[in-house]
Amino acid sequence: NVKRRLDYQPPLYTITNVVMHVQLHATATRIKTVSTVQRVGDHNSPLFLDGEKMQLLSLAVNGEAYNLYSHVEGGISLTEVPDTFELTVETEIDPQNNKALEGLYLSNGVFCTQCEAEGFRRITYFLDRPDVLAKYEVTVSGDKEKYPTLLANGNPIAKGEESDGTHWVTWQDPHPKPCYLFALVAGDFDLLEDSYTTTSGRDVKLELYVDKGKRDKGVFALESLKRAMKWDEDTFGLEYDLDIYMIVAVDFFNMGAMENKGLNVFNSKFVLADQDSATDEDFFNVESVIAHEYFHNWTGNRVTCRDWFQLSLKEGLTVFRDQQFSADMTSALSNRIKHVRVMREHQFAEDASAMSHPIRPDEVIEMNNFYTVTVYDKGAEVIRMFHTLLGADGFRKGMDEYFRRHDGQAVTCDDFVAAMQTATERDLSHFAKWYSQSGTPVVGVSRMYDKQKRTLHISLSQHTPATANQQEKEPLYIPVAFECIDDTGKHYPDDDGLIKDGLVILDKPSVSLMFSDVPESCLPVVLGNFSAPVKVDNPLSAKELLQIFRFADDPFNRWDAMQSLYDWCITQIELDKSVPDSVWKALADVIAAEKDNHELLGECLSIPSFETLCQTRVGVDVAALASARQSFCAQFASELQSALLTVWNGFSSVSYTYKQTDVNARRCKNVALGHLARTADGEALIEKQFAEADNMTDSLGALRAAQSGSAEVFNSLMTAFEQKWNHDPLVLDKWFALNATTEREDILAHITMLKSHPQFTMGNPNRVRALIGSFAFYNPVGFHQPDGSGYQYVTDYLLELDQHNPQVAARIVTPLTQWQNYADKHQQKMKAQLTRLVNHEGLSKDVFEKVSKSLAYE
Ligand code: ARG
Ligand code: ZN
Repeated sequence: NVKRRLDYQPPLYTITNVVMHVQLHATATRIKTVSTVQRVGDHNSPLFLDGEKMQLLSLAVNGEAYNLYSHVEGGISLTEVPDTFELTVETEIDPQNNKALEGLYLSNGVFCTQCEAEGFRRITYFLDRPDVLAKYEVTVSGDKEKYPTLLANGNPIAKGEESDGTHWVTWQDPHPKPCYLFALVAGDFDLLEDSYTTTSGRDVKLELYVDKGKRDKGVFALESLKRAMKWDEDTFGLEYDLDIYMIVAVDFFNMGAMENKGLNVFNSKFVLADQDSATDEDFFNVESVIAHEYFHNWTGNRVTCRDWFQLSLKEGLTVFRDQQFSADMTSALSNRIKHVRVMREHQFAEDASAMSHPIRPDEVIEMNNFYTVTVYDKGAEVIRMFHTLLGADGFRKGMDEYFRRHDGQAVTCDDFVAAMQTATERDLSHFAKWYSQSGTPVVGVSRMYDKQKRTLHISLSQHTPATANQQEKEPLYIPVAFECIDDTGKHYPDDDGLIKDGLVILDKPSVSLMFSDVPESCLPVVLGNFSAPVKVDNPLSAKELLQIFRFADDPFNRWDAMQSLYDWCITQIELDKSVPDSVWKALADVIAAEKDNHELLGECLSIPSFETLCQTRVGVDVAALASARQSFCAQFASELQSALLTVWNGFSSVSYTYKQTDVNARRCKNVALGHLARTADGEALIEKQFAEADNMTDSLGALRAAQSGSAEVFNSLMTAFEQKWNHDPLVLDKWFALNATTEREDILAHITMLKSHPQFTMGNPNRVRALIGSFAFYNPVGFHQPDGSGYQYVTDYLLELDQHNPQVAARIVTPLTQWQNYADKHQQKMKAQLTRLVNHEGLSKDVFEKVSKSLAYE
């Protein structure tokens, strides 16, 4: 049951119009769907309709009961249908027992849908594929008291009440759409209302639905929506196209949010935010996810994907758009660093694993497994390279051409490239290899200085290691942002002008740059602003890294030089060598020099995460690397204690607003506190910050810091925190995650205890991710225990979870499938658990796909 990209066939039939009646009932919802079906082309093939996990009540063609159908794998097959006809299908489903949260489900008293990628086939028998676009009219009816709000896509056109206590609303969506954008919501909510007038004068009603009593926590999301609407008009000339835009926040959701036409459904984590309960990061995420889903209205909905292999067409592009928006709303550098961390911590790991795939995958078993950091984040990096190569104006021209050609269509990544290419008159054919080649290229940098001639020769090379899915790799078209600087900060151009607008194009296995009449201290500074999703192998000494930090123009390069320096220091410790005094001295100077640049300082005081360090090493012995990192952190804190204390003290009494200057200040303060936790003064500082905090960022900052201090203080603060926030599920998730990522001997027993916490439930994906997901992803020492008990623990849990929610189980299995990065002793025990999984009868295809690939990989 592998599906292949190259096997694409246009649909044999299409559906142009859909009229639905949905009678809501917790365990027996009835759906009557009338579709206008048309044969496409000249053929006599049967009509196959996708459908699963539901009961077929009746089937009619042009109003007459129809018998010429049979149940086949994954749906039904109708023979001898007319060329054009009206198909009526009645189905019954059980939303309350839908624990997979795919299709229509009931949770916490709210009915909602999730149809992307292939959930609509759990609601009715249909042509569930994105290249079938239809207009929908949907009538939702249900109990008036339990579900006073009844929503679907588009505009409400009629409503009424019945004598039996039910009511109904009819919704009409004038825009043809694929069924994955279908949505329906029913429940009892608090409503926030607002409006927005587009540049061309369309008045749009904005409605945000949240759980009763949480109205105030929706204000920021609604403001974010208006900022996103304005930004898309200003930046891309794109306006909203309906009279109403609705967002609903629900507590039970598999992913972040969903861009259903005119009716977004959100994980409440990305809607609800206030000073007391949300961190700066939460505010950031709310604004960015709200924008992401809004931007999908054009990049996803107006122009959609022909087939699911093209997912990056809409996701890579929309992530890039939300990143640009966030950079404009907050600040460019910290955004860029955030995204690079995702690439280095997660995408590089995925690309080195058995799940490695190009941003446009070639083979899929379960589509839900391909909503990946590769498709999304590496996809966004590829779009960013278009932007870098074409410039903002060229990129805009390409986007305009893309919409001019394809508005209302379901298209491919190749169509996108073609539009960009025509609009800018550039040959992008080599560049387009990024769509088909997987793996992380390594850009090598070597230099040769001739003292006599005072010339410097720099060679850039590229090499992409073979990946699980592809043995042969070809050179890619890589834009490498490049600076050449000496130890006074002077910049030098190359002799042949290969550096244009600060970029060198590396489109061959290697390119050479010559610099004449330059001092010996000249250094190549590459990949400014992370100009391509690659690893860099540029052997530089600690002194040279500090030179880059001092003098590079590109702030990303400056930050990155510090990260490399820390990585180098940790390597010293791994080799039983010590970090030279000169480095500590230099770091003290860095802190002093940047004391007013809170954004850069906050980032530069952060030590690379364990996950990032794994990507610059092979055969990782987890305990050894974790302890090297720990001892570096401890020494960092003691050597720089007074400087760090000055940083922390500098911000102690800022009262809360979510604005960028304050966010930067709080970040600095909390990073400093994280280090100070390892010093004798730590406890007192942590307790003080925790007691005085007037916002969640500082409370949580104190708790995180306390994780690396004494267990006593940590435990007492955690208890206080739990008591205070027991009623708030989103805050409690933070508490569960802190528990799960703490280093302690009895971590497994501790998690077992938390599983029986009254607020823990396997049915809520946020809760499961907070406890089990955080443990597997972010507690390396606990998860990779030498006896394999961490692996076994997670596997036991996944076997149970998989029976209810395969999508979430398949996410959390990821760390187990990435065994190839670790030492042999880890690998064997990880594979033993993967084997247990794969042999389990009734394993979902979601988990099966990832686990079987992982086991087959050598
Ligand atoms: N299109 C959504 C987004 O990126 C993601 C939905 C994916 N859901 C799923 N079950 N695969 O905003
Ligand atoms: Zn998306």
